[in-house]
Amino acid sequence: MPDIDRPNFQDRRDFMKSAGLAATGFAALPLLGCDTQSRMSLDRSGASKPLAIPRLQAGTIERGERVFRLSLTPGEKEFVSDTPSPTIGIDASYLGPTLEMRRGEQVRFHIDNKLAEDATVHWHGFELPATADGGPHQLIRPGERWSPSFEIRQRASLYWYHSHLHRRAGPQVYTGLAAPIYVRDEEEDRLDLPSRYGVDDIPLVVQDRVIDGAGRLVYPLDMHSRMMGVMGERIYVNGTANAVFEAAAGPLRLRLLNGSNARFYTFSLEGDRPMQLIASDGGLLAAPSEVRSLTLAPGERAQVIVDLSEGRPLRLIASSPANAMGMMGGQGGGMMGGGMMGNRTGRERQGRTFSILDMRPSGSSTPVMLPPTLAALAAPDPSLAVRSRRFVLDMGMMGRGMSINGQTMDMDVINQRVPVGQWEIWEIANASMMAHPFHIHNVQFRLLDRDGRPPRAEEAGFKDTVIVNPREQVRLLLRFEENTDPDTPYMYHCHILEHEDAGMMGQFVVTAS
Ligand code: C2O
Ligand code: CU
Ligand code: CU
Repeated sequence: MPDIDRPNFQDRRDFMKSAGLAATGFAALPLLGCDTQSRMSLDRSGASKPLAIPRLQAGTIERGERVFRLSLTPGEKEFVSDTPSPTIGIDASYLGPTLEMRRGEQVRFHIDNKLAEDATVHWHGFELPATADGGPHQLIRPGERWSPSFEIRQRASLYWYHSHLHRRAGPQVYTGLAAPIYVRDEEEDRLDLPSRYGVDDIPLVVQDRVIDGAGRLVYPLDMHSRMMGVMGERIYVNGTANAVFEAAAGPLRLRLLNGSNARFYTFSLEGDRPMQLIASDGGLLAAPSEVRSLTLAPGERAQVIVDLSEGRPLRLIASSPANAMGMMGGQGGGMMGGGMMGNRTGRERQGRTFSILDMRPSGSSTPVMLPPTLAALAAPDPSLAVRSRRFVLDMGMMGRGMSINGQTMDMDVINQRVPVGQWEIWEIANASMMAHPFHIHNVQFRLLDRDGRPPRAEEAGFKDTVIVNPREQVRLLLRFEENTDPDTPYMYHCHILEHEDAGMMGQFVVTAS
């Protein structure tokens, strides 16, 4: 992890301590008032703002179904003050409500497209009929309504919904068509984890954006952005820059969603404090795992419990390694280091550190205790698999040949037919020079290994998206449990949205065995 900014963080805390401010006065100080940006070398600018918490929407129960009514609408948002930019929102000017639902329920959505353009709404992480998936085939034309319905089979966790428009998922998600989903269930309710939405259980949709000199949101179309994916210099959490969350002392549950188009983040607490990792994409881990950092690529989620019992402010930060050869602490070098991206600064090549969230607790409480076990989660057993499939990700020369197994996404081609109910190993190999987050629809899989090495802590549970590093091969164990449909495909793809849009995506159907 690039450590260039760390000493300054340490200085800052020491400074606060020696000034006698850490315990009391800190929360009342304007965050940048006491140390300039250059002193901290921290990538933030502007005044702190309270973290926006998306409205929680539980829908209504109608004839035994949980029904959500949502509209995709054009909006405006000030990414820097006083300069509005056009956006897309879901019953909001930017992003949308957190949808809350329970495992075992039948849900129905009525989604009205009030935009002047086509859109789709994909339920990321869910097992569901292909016609309800919201991929590129479930187009919602302007003025039309889409009303999919499915049973919630997923374990409790943080999922999300977002645009999956063919070739335009990147710009639509970027301008706001994305939001969180909370699935709850009894297994989790029994544990008594922090679960008061917006109080001790908060979603953090982490996104980076390019803002031009006039303060407007820009979706860059240059060569670098198309090849590496769009990466901005400003971080927004639930749409808030320089976000502050006033918490009660005690445990705070952060549900992290990397909702960025292309940027990877390695999250940690300032001062290298430990966090308790409790969940991956598809729900609770077997047991809490103490971590000092965790990495999420676009599409991935994780949940951590932060201990605010001392009542001292804490800051969640993230380093963002340059996504190129060796980014995961590997062999070093790589295309961005090789001078090919001549217009990038040296600092950017080494990665940089962003402030994500300032947590300011009030009061103090007894130290946080978590249950020693969380969920029954057996180790994945590769001997269950009756066949394997191989997927090779490649970018071609200068990103002009985004492909999987040599094929670029074609809406009219079914690339794989997968029998229902059968355990398979999917081997995902990366032939390119940068890491790709590989995502599969309609399944929660287990990661067996990467080049024979065991998964990291944040990858040990159920996953729907997994990082595949340059020249690496990961092995996934999976099974599609139901929802056969010989005609309507699901997608598998890179979740760097510009790669997806450029065709690093394939289609599969689940067939009756
Ligand atoms: Cu989150 Cu196919 O996407
Ligand atoms: Cu998905
Ligand atoms: Cu990719």
